[in-house]
Amino acid sequence: MGKRGKFICIEGLDASGKTTHAYRLVRSLLERGYEALYTTEPSSGQIGKFVRRYILQRKERVPTVVEALLFAVDRVDHIERTIKPGMKEGKIVVSDRYLYSSLAYQGAAGLDLNWISEINEFALSPDLAIYLDVPPEIVIKRLKRKKSVMENLHTQRRVQEVYIRLVNERHLVLIDGNRAKHKVANDVLSTVLDFLEKSS
Ligand code: TMP
Repeated sequence: MGKRGKFICIEGLDASGKTTHAYRLVRSLLERGYEALYTTEPSSGQIGKFVRRYILQRKERVPTVVEALLFAVDRVDHIERTIKPGMKEGKIVVSDRYLYSSLAYQGAAGLDLNWISEINEFALSPDLAIYLDVPPEIVIKRLKRKKSVMENLHTQRRVQEVYIRLVNERHLVLIDGNRAKHKVANDVLSTVLDFLEKSS
């Protein structure tokens, strides 16, 4: 049997530090001799670039069903182009956002979580999904210049509620992201190393 890598995703509100921590995690894994790869959603592919432009970089939100469908299309492209090939090479693929972002953001906007799961039927389940919890009031303070249509307190509060629900249903592992960077990074790394040890 060929070697199979692992697939880990990091979730959180906008400006919750997940990009910093996803990068740090990959660096720490590489330093420990693991093969690891950083990737992100929306993806860096053509569909992902379109999604950023068409959904995020505008004043008003497009219909939420359109958001959910476009994020799901980008996800399939991301899986086929980056996640599966990385795993086939035995790498630990770390994705900065994944399916749970659709559940949280489009779910918070009123879509049925079951329907969101259905249109994401082709999305492979991650081996480990981490949620960095930072209060919405804090992330809004960090967002000095608005970059995306999602970056307002009302949206972030509702998104956090869905993430917490997903934590309670054990889809996501919560790490307190509202602490000094090195403490959060240590917790992320030890959670991942524990998981890798148990699953080896
Ligand atoms: P980020 O790259 O700064 O994390 O921003 C991505 C934005 O896209 C963020 O506001 C969350 C949003 N998003 C969704 O609403 N649904 C999704 O499925 C994904 C992947 C992202």
